[in-house]
Amino acid sequence: MKLLIKNIGTIVGIDESGRDRVCGAEMSHIGTLDDGWLLAVDGLIADYGAMSTCPAVADAEIIDAGGGMLLPSFCDSHTHLVYAGSREQEFLDKINGLSYEQIAQRGGGILNSADRLHETSEDELYRQVMERIDEIIAMGTGLVEIKSGYGLSTEDELKMLRVIRRIRRDSPVAVRSTFLGAHAVARAYTGRQQEYVDMVCREMIPAVAAEGLADFVDVFCDKGFFTVGQTEQIMRCGAEYGMRAKIHANELDISGGVEAGVRHGALSVDHLERMGDEQIEALRGSATMPTMLPGAAFFLGMSYPPARKMIDAGLAVALASDYNPGSSPSGNMRMVVSLASIKMKMTPAEAINAATLNGAAAMGESAHYGSITRGKVANVFITKPLPSLAFLPYAHQTPVIRHIILGGKHIKTLSI
Ligand code: NIG
Ligand code: FE
Repeated sequence: MKLLIKNIGTIVGIDESGRDRVCGAEMSHIGTLDDGWLLAVDGLIADYGAMSTCPAVADAEIIDAGGGMLLPSFCDSHTHLVYAGSREQEFLDKINGLSYEQIAQRGGGILNSADRLHETSEDELYRQVMERIDEIIAMGTGLVEIKSGYGLSTEDELKMLRVIRRIRRDSPVAVRSTFLGAHAVARAYTGRQQEYVDMVCREMIPAVAAEGLADFVDVFCDKGFFTVGQTEQIMRCGAEYGMRAKIHANELDISGGVEAGVRHGALSVDHLERMGDEQIEALRGSATMPTMLPGAAFFLGMSYPPARKMIDAGLAVALASDYNPGSSPSGNMRMVVSLASIKMKMTPAEAINAATLNGAAAMGESAHYGSITRGKVANVFITKPLPSLAFLPYAHQTPVIRHIILGGKHIKTLSI
């Protein structure tokens, strides 16, 4: 299977260095080539170059990019997009002054989604989720991490993870899955949080591992949710079953989750709306990717993570959507890139590096995804002709994506 893309105005995101992430000051550079072509063979990027060297490839499907830009697909390393229904009633509560924590304390929030998920069949859930998957594919995402965490019982957590497995099989988007049993304490365990955590370790993790349903394990380590001790207990248990940790930390408080994640070699620590100098210091020299979710800060009216301070301290940072019904009901990675530029003062190059190669690194996948590199999976999108790369975050609602290519296949043409 061969696909040749010709007349690309600019190829963006070229990287042949072999690095797995872009750090600190390097994040403000992104490799480009003007007036180019790209050839995908059997799903992988085989070669690319300047139009003056464009090969004639027998039996290749041809796409004429018409001078548009070609970028690596977004690598969205943090979503909760398997959920049933929606929660706009709580959105109204928020408009009327309640905070995210107050809504959770009243039994809303995650527990509300758990009730709905319990009542929804696996097939119906799959149908709802596939709509969201088609939506994010059309917005340029090519690799996505999806969490469980609205089941909160062994049976319902398995239901969610089986839906994720079906999406992984059926959809052209690449999927990685995370077990998040410790997202909230299930209603049946109210007032017995430690017993719930013990059950997550004794019953849920072995059951998930027995079916090979999760790549990673996550814990909501924050004020009002799970403690550092409980987070460490779950990370240790996950590690016994080969699941690396990705931790929710420092959304509601300086929770200790960042330091705990680093101590346990977590792949990423995510959210980070509340970060002090000590947390930035803890991340320096570690393999743990700090991942920011500006869509959640935007939707909940929280302060944004200190991206500039982290990048200026030499850290690599990633950006993800957090697509979920309570704090970020959108999986639009372009909007995430725009928020990063507008609200966190990340340059377009920094934001795109954070949403592509560094997002892939936050899933341990940068050997295969996240940049235009010979041998990587041919997951790319093509835009209409743009005046410059900065146009992408600047004109944040202008539809610019024309073609979606996933696994070297031309999946979609958007009429814009
Ligand atoms: O990442 N913070 C924890 N979990 C989600 C929100 C989940 C929900 O409200 O349904 C988040 O923001
Ligand atoms: Fe989240």
